[in-house]
Amino acid sequence: MERPNLQIALDTFDLPTALGPLQKAHQHIDVIEVGTILCLSVGMEAVRIIRSLYPEKTILADVRIAEAGSIISKMAYDAGADWVSVVSGAAPDTAEVVLKEARSRGKDVQIELSDGWTWDMARKWAGLGIQQVITHRSRDAEAKGELSWSQQDIDTVHKLAEMGFKVTVTGGVKPADIPRFGGTPVYIFIAGRAIVKADDPAAAAKAFQDVIEQTYLPQGAV
Ligand code: 5RP
Repeated sequence: MERPNLQIALDTFDLPTALGPLQKAHQHIDVIEVGTILCLSVGMEAVRIIRSLYPEKTILADVRIAEAGSIISKMAYDAGADWVSVVSGAAPDTAEVVLKEARSRGKDVQIELSDGWTWDMARKWAGLGIQQVITHRSRDAEAKGELSWSQQDIDTVHKLAEMGFKVTVTGGVKPADIPRFGGTPVYIFIAGRAIVKADDPAAAAKAFQDVIEQTYLPQGAV
């Protein structure tokens, strides 16, 4: 099983607040997410600046496209994003135009699975050629007290991976949550507040990488 990647989610209201922790943690980060909150607050300038500072990193613009897929994805890709997100409630036509735009540039699309998505929809995305999905505990669910990842969440990741999707896991993920996913084919773990708000963002990101390494150590390796 492949070792999962670590993605930092930058969901701050301004760029300096995002760039401080990113600068400290970047050597432990595989993917940089310009979060929805930062995209809405600063705009695509945030993607442009982070791209110029980290030309070698994969960047997701978490723009959560629901409509106008062609225009919004072009804006994000033109600014330097490698990947954009589309909400699961978007019409299949929207996912399709974003995917077309992505493929024309050698980029990618992630479908963010929110309440209400169905396996039938997942089969349709797979049929369109979508390769990445994001499964998450929303901040709203977290605020309601759903504090940990359930067996149902884990089973969902397995089933999506069996359908051929690369699955990202997000929503209040902490290092202590990672061992729960041992044996589960996760493509990316996203950590936002656990790194960005840490006193030592570099140490926090390294703690994620260490526990990912331990959890996904190839069998027989010591
Ligand atoms: C919120 C998001 C966040 O970017 C994602 O959940 C990661 O942030 P955190 O680890 O702080 O929950 O998409 O819906």
